[in-house]
Amino acid sequence: MEVDTLIINSSQLLTLERSSMGSGLLGSIVNGAVAVKNGLILETGTTSAIMKNYPDCLNVIDADGSLVLPGFVDCHTHLVFAGDRSKEMEQRLEGAEYLEILKNRGGIHSTVRATRNASRKELISLGMERLNRMAENGTTTVEIKSGYGLNEETELKMLQVASELGIKHSLDVVITYLGAHTVPEDKNRDEYVKWLGGKSLRAFRKNAEFFDIFCEEGAFSLTETKMLLEAAKLAGFKLKVHGGQFNDLGSPGIASLLGAVSVDHLENISNQDLDLMSEAGTVAVLMPGVPFFLQSDQYPEAKRFVKKGIPVALATDFNPGSCPSYSMQMMITLGVFYCGLSVTDAVLGSTINAAKAINRETEIGSIKAGKKADLIILNIKKPEEIPYYFGTNLVKKTIKNGKII
Ligand code: NIG
Ligand code: FE
Repeated sequence: MEVDTLIINSSQLLTLERSSMGSGLLGSIVNGAVAVKNGLILETGTTSAIMKNYPDCLNVIDADGSLVLPGFVDCHTHLVFAGDRSKEMEQRLEGAEYLEILKNRGGIHSTVRATRNASRKELISLGMERLNRMAENGTTTVEIKSGYGLNEETELKMLQVASELGIKHSLDVVITYLGAHTVPEDKNRDEYVKWLGGKSLRAFRKNAEFFDIFCEEGAFSLTETKMLLEAAKLAGFKLKVHGGQFNDLGSPGIASLLGAVSVDHLENISNQDLDLMSEAGTVAVLMPGVPFFLQSDQYPEAKRFVKKGIPVALATDFNPGSCPSYSMQMMITLGVFYCGLSVTDAVLGSTINAAKAINRETEIGSIKAGKKADLIILNIKKPEEIPYYFGTNLVKKTIKNGKII
């Protein structure tokens, strides 16, 4: 059989498939290799076995004794926006609080003003650059939310820009509608909530796969959240929720009962809601870059989720206000040092569990025959070295659909 590419001579090939030969907890093949055909993984095995099976393949990527693992899946980002909020960071360094800045028409509102004023072309060019940074840092699939338009025109512009980014860039993009990010300054709350739960759902169903809502003081209440999630589900969206970031309003439980794919943030969650997430199999998306950047000591407690058998994913939450980081490696580091994740769970959280959080676990997130050949080669020998060499980009090569990008 002919193949397009071989990736050989890894220190370990972290397949994350426990059934693979020589499997440790993460599922790994010592000195593993991968054969790729048509952008998909055809076979995995030891380097000697793969070389023997495909002796004629001329296109060989030599990992030269480095660690090979699935590309990172960044399952929660707000990547499309204009402007920056570094001034707010300075205000926070002088004691201002994130929710207080939001209340005073800054925060999300200031990015809404900048994004409404930006052209599509500008947003695409900013988005392409950001995706380049993510690819350099080992990410191969990115979820992107709208939510800085908060009106029909700009929400549509953001969703279309996200879609165009997915077409133009080699990274894959998954799109989420987040009109329910907060109530815009220029609208009355009841009017806006009515639009969100009615006309906007019909208008954007074809532009986005997921519906998301920020359930938080200063954004949307639990009652509004429940009502809007029900309407979005009925309209055919899969569901996500920003829940428990600053206050426990009870959204993880409601979201789980409605079959949400994930609840994200989760610094604050009751035991009752943990049980509901566990029963429903809802993915917990933890984003430790947010409390880090907001200098909070409230990190999500990963062990509470792991103990209940809830799949834990990691994401950057890349956005201009609470976490402008492109790096899933940094999230692994913070997840391990501040959330109590084991290295194993942090790696699973950045790959296969993150794929689950966007309903892509059959296509990406592990190294398995039939899945996309989305792989990264890191300049280390074993996964423990990701947090160990913290703060450095360890990516040697990012391989997307079997090609180096
Ligand atoms: O996920 N929590 C709400 N939304 C974003 C931040 C958005 C912003 O500050 O611009 C988040 O942290
Ligand atoms: Fe977010």
